[in-house]
Amino acid sequence: MTKPERIPGVAVLGAGQWGPNLIRNFHTHETSRVAWVIDRDPSRLELTRQRYPDVRVASDPALAFEDPEVDAAVIATPTVTHYELAARALRAGKHVLVEKPIATSVSEAEDLCALAEGQGLVLMVGHVFLFNRAIQRVREYLVEGAIGKVFYLSMIRTNLGPIRMDVNAAWDLAAHDIAIANYWLDSRPETAAAQGGSWINAGIEDAVFATLSYPNGVMANLHVSWLNPRKVRDITVVGEKGMLTFDDMNLSEPLRLYDKGVTDQRTPGFIDTFASFRTSIREGEIRIPRIGASEPLKAECEHFLHCIATGARPLSNGWSGAAAVRVLAAMTRSLANGGHREAV
Ligand SMILES: NC(=O)c1ccc[n+]([C@@H]2O[C@H](COP(=O)([O-])OP(=O)(O)OC[C@H]3O[C@@H](n4cnc5c(N)ncnc54)[C@H](O)[C@@H]3O)[C@@H](O)[C@H]2O)c1
Repeated sequence: MTKPERIPGVAVLGAGQWGPNLIRNFHTHETSRVAWVIDRDPSRLELTRQRYPDVRVASDPALAFEDPEVDAAVIATPTVTHYELAARALRAGKHVLVEKPIATSVSEAEDLCALAEGQGLVLMVGHVFLFNRAIQRVREYLVEGAIGKVFYLSMIRTNLGPIRMDVNAAWDLAAHDIAIANYWLDSRPETAAAQGGSWINAGIEDAVFATLSYPNGVMANLHVSWLNPRKVRDITVVGEKGMLTFDDMNLSEPLRLYDKGVTDQRTPGFIDTFASFRTSIREGEIRIPRIGASEPLKAECEHFLHCIATGARPLSNGWSGAAAVRVLAAMTRSLANGGHREAV
């Protein structure tokens, strides 16, 4: 398909494991073109050159930031570099889509938000799960009250690798779960407590177990690890009227809604026989909603282009990225304080 004349030019910074997915999406989309791919590693640039001969490649980000044909920078470099590169791109007048987590401190994250607002530019964070249709459907269910008042969330995100050196498993993996929980509950946690272990590299937690307390007594428990034999992306939401599960590994049927709960809340007294215990448990239907197949990253990239074109505020805007970083920073303090409950 021939592309129209003036479509946004995108520079993708970072062509490691994840960057090529972003390059592919912006390259194939009819309303964007990839003008530059920037990476420090010549071998990554060579691979990009072979796959996309029409795209310019370089190791110096300045070339992309100075190019007037570049409208937006898409940053998929290691987390510790996000702030510096995003700030430089915004100062150069480019819209920014930066991978999660947006930065490594709250002040850096808020600084990026202020920079973007001051320049009237789009700042979006790659919280890709917010563009997953099943995740969006759950939010609709929660807003409708399909499972009643939410009691707690249990979130598990494990795999063997990829092992990072610049951030721990919480900053790498829990960033997703925090973004999902904040989006679903339309809220922010008040406290965070976390414990973890560093077995591979000293001082970099490979597994983190955290509990977040949201307003109204809602709890979220997170288990993230890159040192685990199984790839699990599993969430359970327990509510007053029902329960639901999200399994990102089940591509065709990621959601299940359970009409299950405890109906008989007798007070005072206690359940003294197995029979009376059984009568208090409601074991209703299990519903599997139909969720059409889609690529969340494609939807995320399209949303970024839409926001550039219309000036709309992104679903995963800089402030939501900063909110996730605020939780991660509290978890980091808690890890250093033996699991102490920290204010977010
Ligand atoms: N949204 C998601 O689901 C998702 C999935 C994977 C990774 N990520 C994020 O994407 C980012 C990259 O992850 P990855 O797995 O691709 O890492 P990676 O280490 O495989 O790739 C990073 C690339 O950036 C390059 N690089 C490093 N510093 C640079 C600099 N200053 N300028 C230019 N290039 C530089 C490296 O040479 C490397 O090729 C991370 O922030 C990660 O959290 C997001």
